Amino acid sequence: MNKRVTVPEILSAKGKRKLTELTAYDYPTALLADKSGIDMLLVGDSLAMVVLGQEDTLSVGMAEMLHHTLAVSRGASRAMVIADMPFMSYQASVEQALINAGRFMSKARANAVKLEGGARIVPQIRAMVEAGIPVQGHLGLTPQSAAQFGGFKVQGKTAEAARVLIDDAQALADAGCFSIVLEAIPSSIAQMVTEAVSVPTIGIGAGAECDGQVLVVHDVLGLFDRFVPRFVKRYAKLDDLIVEALVKYKEEVEQGVFPGPEHSFTISEQEVQKLGKN
Ligand code: KIV
Repeated sequence: MNKRVTVPEILSAKGKRKLTELTAYDYPTALLADKSGIDMLLVGDSLAMVVLGQEDTLSVGMAEMLHHTLAVSRGASRAMVIADMPFMSYQASVEQALINAGRFMSKARANAVKLEGGARIVPQIRAMVEAGIPVQGHLGLTPQSAAQFGGFKVQGKTAEAARVLIDDAQALADAGCFSIVLEAIPSSIAQMVTEAVSVPTIGIGAGAECDGQVLVVHDVLGLFDRFVPRFVKRYAKLDDLIVEALVKYKEEVEQGVFPGPEHSFTISEQEVQKLGKN
């Protein structure tokens, strides 16, 4: 049994080693990512877009997120499993946020939860941390607020917006977040945030100076090409390999090549004879 990555381990990595985080939405991906030694597996609400084919992340709810988080928890024995709290599962009240975060921990066996937003969700974060639930923050381009931003746009591009980002990051760290995701912000601002807070920053489109990086697994493996943000690096192109394998399967069935004798079952000739006599 592997030793699970813990909150103290993530906290003490700051300034010593780069942290790695990747999304996962199912059991087989969790098994593979765990084998690769990734520190944190995020069951992101990006599930809505890359797995469920939806346009944005807004319509995925607690039921789907619990279902997928439990599958990832079953596959990951070393990586810390972080459940992304879906839209409107934590915004309405501290009480509802706490109950839903608790469901991720007890029902889906998550090790932590992630919430989008700055100072305005500090009461929710404090309540969770007090209840013993580790929280990862998320600032910058927070997709659940894309309507407010006018789309999926780079954030923190004015001095005023950058100041708010730095203040928000400090508020999240003070509230007890054990790490903060910084999405789609200028690298120089991400560096300032990283220097301003005592907890690790995890960048996605936030440059190389963050304490760690996170990407969506479908982007890393080349399994999603509806749109590819500038910050994505594809480490494989599995979509071509998969289509190639499926075309071969189809052709072999059509040509009678598959299944062969090695994939089929037999019955003794004697039993077949008996069948004929009945
Ligand atoms: O849902 C998600 O995949 C995320 C990452 C992009 C950080 O929130």
